[in-house]
Amino acid sequence: MEGPAPCPGSTNKEAAASSENSSCQSPRAAMSAAGAPHATSGNNPVKSPEAPHRVLIESASKFRTCRQIGFYRRQKQLPPGQSSYVAQLDTLQVDETCASLQIIHQGTKVPLNLQIIAVIGGIIRLKINDVSPSKKRYEVSDVLVKEPASERFTVAEQELSSLTLEYQQGLYKLHVTAQPFSITVTHEEKPLVSVNSEGLLYFEDLVSPSPESVIPGINADEPLDSAKDDFGHCEKELQDFLDSKTTSVGLDFSLHGFEHVYGIPEHADHHRLQDCRESDAYRLYNLDVFGYGVHSKMGIYGTVPLLLAHKASYTCGVFWHNASETMVEVNYKASLQPEIKDAPVSRKKKAVPQVDLRWMSESGIVDVFLLLGPSPQDVFNQYAQLTGTQAFPPRFSLGYHQCRWNYEDEADVEAVDSGFDEHLIPYDVIWLDIEHTDGKRYFTWDPDKFPDPVQMQEKLEKKKRKLVVISDPHIKIDPNYMLYAEAKQKGFFVKDREGGDYVGRCWPGSSCYLDFTNPEVRDWYSSQFALNAHKGYTDTLFIWNDMNEPAVFESPEGTMPKHAVHHQSWEHRDLHNLYGFYQQMATSEGLIRRSGGQERPFVLTRSFFAGSQRYGAVWTGDNKAEWDYLKISIPMLVTLSVTGISFCGADVGGFVGNPEPELLVRWYQAGSFQPFFRGHAVRDSQRREPWLFGENNTFLIKKAIEERYTLLPYWYLLFYRAHVSAEPVMRPLWVEFPKNPEVFGVENQYMIGNALMVVPVLESGVSSLDVLYPGSGELWYNFRTHERIARQHKQKVRVTLDEIPVYQRGGTIVPMHTTVGKSTGWMEDTPYELHVALDSKGSASGELYIDDGHSFQYAQECMFTFRRFTLQKNVLSCRSADNTGQVTAESILKKVLFMGFKNRPSEVNVIIAGKEKTSVDFTYNHKLCLLTVENLSLDVSNDWEIHIAKS
Ligand code: GLC
Repeated sequence: MEGPAPCPGSTNKEAAASSENSSCQSPRAAMSAAGAPHATSGNNPVKSPEAPHRVLIESASKFRTCRQIGFYRRQKQLPPGQSSYVAQLDTLQVDETCASLQIIHQGTKVPLNLQIIAVIGGIIRLKINDVSPSKKRYEVSDVLVKEPASERFTVAEQELSSLTLEYQQGLYKLHVTAQPFSITVTHEEKPLVSVNSEGLLYFEDLVSPSPESVIPGINADEPLDSAKDDFGHCEKELQDFLDSKTTSVGLDFSLHGFEHVYGIPEHADHHRLQDCRESDAYRLYNLDVFGYGVHSKMGIYGTVPLLLAHKASYTCGVFWHNASETMVEVNYKASLQPEIKDAPVSRKKKAVPQVDLRWMSESGIVDVFLLLGPSPQDVFNQYAQLTGTQAFPPRFSLGYHQCRWNYEDEADVEAVDSGFDEHLIPYDVIWLDIEHTDGKRYFTWDPDKFPDPVQMQEKLEKKKRKLVVISDPHIKIDPNYMLYAEAKQKGFFVKDREGGDYVGRCWPGSSCYLDFTNPEVRDWYSSQFALNAHKGYTDTLFIWNDMNEPAVFESPEGTMPKHAVHHQSWEHRDLHNLYGFYQQMATSEGLIRRSGGQERPFVLTRSFFAGSQRYGAVWTGDNKAEWDYLKISIPMLVTLSVTGISFCGADVGGFVGNPEPELLVRWYQAGSFQPFFRGHAVRDSQRREPWLFGENNTFLIKKAIEERYTLLPYWYLLFYRAHVSAEPVMRPLWVEFPKNPEVFGVENQYMIGNALMVVPVLESGVSSLDVLYPGSGELWYNFRTHERIARQHKQKVRVTLDEIPVYQRGGTIVPMHTTVGKSTGWMEDTPYELHVALDSKGSASGELYIDDGHSFQYAQECMFTFRRFTLQKNVLSCRSADNTGQVTAESILKKVLFMGFKNRPSEVNVIIAGKEKTSVDFTYNHKLCLLTVENLSLDVSNDWEIHIAKS
């Protein structure tokens, strides 16, 4: 491999520019100026050079383990077995909205209200809350798109000790057992999910201010001494513990017949969730973990409390609607199926696989949705019905993004921008990190480095390119900073428990944190993006929300203390995982508003929650420039994708450190086939623009990026489908091959849509890969050579550095562009070509979606072209896929490739709108069985057919 070319930027300039800034950056600059080695390895936590307060995580020592989490310790004292809760079946009430009854703890006699709700569309919701609360518990709002519509349960049977409710005409039944309280949901009389069958329902009493008043059956909380290792702030923490921590909730679920569960991001871990018996539980707690470790269940930046369970015959999901710190335990086991009354004897005592789940949250209520499937797509639809689908991104954001911390000044931006043109590499967006601001004051510009941001953006816009700038949630304490002064005066900051503004440290030094949970604050924040509100905030500027877990330096676990106080006096502990969600919501609404509701926004966020898909894109934070991180990016991204967040990506090249050229090339090749495609690098890393690694590597990176641009019509279609139909863009193989158990654990290959299978190279020096070709009777074609894969199933495939293997699945049609331009903006009129891969019956189908690429007119005025192509019996037809679409503009199809076409045709004719036949040119390659029809000029918005006459 060739080494990197010398860095064009000046290290001295970087150091000087940084040290001019406020106190918070100078140590980083000082370290790099002093030539401090970049800390990317070693077994101890190492100070990150970019801030003295952030620790590069090699061990998780800055962060709590399960044993250091009070509510987890308390819940773990409740032994699995028989529940102390009894359902009072005589309290049952059934109306149009729900079935409700009381459950009572036999020891405390405290009653709880259980609501069982039959949500239309295959979802059962269970809510457990106090009957007469002394203080209201936090209930998540704003995550569900609306209150889910419900239908009435039929009570099929009610006895003294049990009760059966029917849903969907008896297809599903809920068997409620009174003592001990449990519910088993059956599908076609077979047990699917049991709730509280392990007896782990846990609901701490709000009025218990001391560790002595605990639920009978559970010992008082462990000696508080054992918490003293909590990072030197134990006393305060213990005080919190006594004051307000006794509100934790938990529940167990058994999923019958399942051996594969996925979801609950964000963890740098395998796609299939791992058994927790020998290790920590999965932690869902949004944290800023610089250089997080791989294969860890600790919580990082975001949370989606959705778990999917899959087996060959069924897919279902559990969505735990709670935004406080949450732990999830997964236990795989074989078990005897629960006895269901009247079930055939043979079904009663069969050992079957089972997954036991235990969800534990620090506060809030039990509010859980069982998504009943039965197919993977049904579960995606059910989850989208609750939390919405992926926002449809503007087309430019599907191109390549070039970021680094930092592009230093306007000249640097111009030089990098021109570099792409000089090397004929397409790209769409250049990004500015925190150094572009005036002393880390967001919505401002460094007056020396960025004196004319409008002109800089105009220059970019002339080249049909955009700018993204960062906007973090912490606001520098500076009475002369307008944003601070206004927010302070309006009382818009999160409060400390004494009622003052909570103060924490982040990039600008002492800062206050906007309380995005307050709708008024969000409204005000959104208005900051108005075109006249701040200098240089133009309509080609888009936004990056970072550090929004929120990150607070020098604070326990680098985040906001749980006793900080939000809107309506909720404690931070109640809603921690929602903070970033709300910031992205406000930002995205701000961008929509600045255009008078006309334009689609683009907002990238680091922290997220269920529903964040409605507001933009997510990336996987501060990974490292190491092979392990390229490898883990695949399961991390497919996990995000199946939990609703389709627009996701990882920093290409790895954020921390300097990738060796081979790794960088491999990362571009993988990143080009991932939804959000952005190169990014940490402050003190060597410059990394694609042309700095020698001619051959530049060529390979350019090739990978170009491939992304030729496939843009396919990416755009997939995002449209994600938006309207909740189909993930990037898919684990089990989603496409749900009946094929062999693929359920695969995480080194994945699908883009239903047509392309990507096999990224994830290790150094690889000359061959074992590729699995899934499906039975499925045909696969090499995406680039169009050659059919001769031996199906598993094969060792030779690879070179030139490209990663990509295959097209028989039966699909992939729309592509014939050429690439400087950016997506230059490709609006670029002609199309279709890659038609025949299945074993000689058929194929696919779609093409076109609109203006940036506005909401597709939704507001049906301004789009959505076409379906079908190949059947040697006729390829082009028809409308959605009759509501108004044709936008002429879009020309130039070329069609037919892969797997067995014989040379005698002629190929085109029939437009049922009129006369016209014969067209074609070539046929016997060896490849490839028929190429070229020099076409077919408007895809017309109905037409291509008839292939057999010889
Ligand atoms: C955080 C982000 C990273 C960014 C840096 C400076 O570490 O994750 O992407 O470059 O902050 O803003």
